[in-house]
Amino acid sequence: MTTTESGAPPASGGTGPADLQERFEATIARDQRVEPRDWMPDGYRRTLIRQIAQHAHSEIIGMQPEAAWITRAPSLRRKAILLAKVQDEAGHGLYLYSAAETLGVDRAELNDRLLEGRQKYSSIFNYPTLTFADVGVIGWFVDGAAICNQVPLCRSSYGPYARAMVRVCKEESFHQRQGYELLRTMTRGTKAQREMVQDAVNRWWWPSLMMFGPPDENSPNSAQSMAWKIKRHSNDELRQRFVDMTVPQAEALGVTLPDPELRWNEERGRYDFGTPDFDELVRVIKGEGPCNAERMERRRTAHEEGAWVREAAAAHAAKQASRSKRGMAA
Ligand SMILES: [Fe+2]
Ligand SMILES: [Fe+2]
Repeated sequence: MTTTESGAPPASGGTGPADLQERFEATIARDQRVEPRDWMPDGYRRTLIRQIAQHAHSEIIGMQPEAAWITRAPSLRRKAILLAKVQDEAGHGLYLYSAAETLGVDRAELNDRLLEGRQKYSSIFNYPTLTFADVGVIGWFVDGAAICNQVPLCRSSYGPYARAMVRVCKEESFHQRQGYELLRTMTRGTKAQREMVQDAVNRWWWPSLMMFGPPDENSPNSAQSMAWKIKRHSNDELRQRFVDMTVPQAEALGVTLPDPELRWNEERGRYDFGTPDFDELVRVIKGEGPCNAERMERRRTAHEEGAWVREAAAAHAAKQASRSKRGMAA
C-alpha cells in the first residue's frame, strides 16, 4: 500500500479534483500533517502564506523595541541575555520565512509585501519601550502571549509550520522567563524600580491582550482556520488562557494589573476581565500606532543596508553551484 508524505493512506487512488479534495480532508480529519508536496486547496495555501508571513514579519519587526535597549542594558549579564533574546527573534523570522517558502512564495516577495504595507505584523510592536522595565514586561507579557498562541500551533495541520513552532516555543519560554526574572529583580529593588515596573505593566497590559486579535464574533477568518486545523483555539479562548496564566504571576511579583474588572470567577474557574479597546487595535493595525512609521522606516533602512550581504550570499551560492557542477563533470 502506498502512503502519502504525511503517512496517510490515500483515500482513493484517483487524481481528479474531487479525489484530491477528499484526500486533503481525510488528512485533516485524521489529525495528520499536510506537507509541501501534497495537494491543498488554494484557500488553505493562501491563508497559510498570509499567517506565516505575518508571523515572520512580527518576529523581525519585534526585534526593534527591545534592541533599542541593548546598548543601554544596565549590566553585562543583562546585555548578554537581551542580545541572545533578540537574536532568537531573528532566527524565528528566518524559520518562518523558510516555512512560507515551502508554499511556493518567495521570501523577497514577502518582504516587499511588508514594506509596501500589503502585509501586517503584530500590533504590539508599535508601542515604545520607554524604560528598561519594558524589556522585562515584554518578555513576561508579549513572549508569554506568544507562548499561548504558539504552543497550539505545534499541532497545526501544516507540517513545516508546526515543526518550526516546536523550537520557537522552547525559545519563547526562555524569553518569558528572562523577562519575569528581570522584573523579580527590579521589584525587590528600590521604590523607583518598583514604580518603573508598575508603569511598564500599566502601559503594556492592554496592548498585550489585543495581541490575540479581535473578539471571536469579529474574527471572520477564524472559523475556516479552525476547520482546517491551522488554528486550534479561538482568539477569545487564547486571551482567557493568557489572563489565567498571568494573574497569579502578577500577584507573585506584587504588581497590579490595570483592570478594575479583573476578578476570579468561582463558577467558571477562570478570571473575568475587562474588554480591551479594540478600536485602538484597529487604529494601530491601520498604521496609526505610536511607532508604526518608525518601525517600518527602520526595517526599510535595514533592508537597504543589507543589500550587499544578499549580493555576497548570492555570489557565493553561484560560485559553489558552478564548482559542484565542474566537480560532477570531471
Ligand atoms: Fe519569537
Ligand atoms: Fe520571543
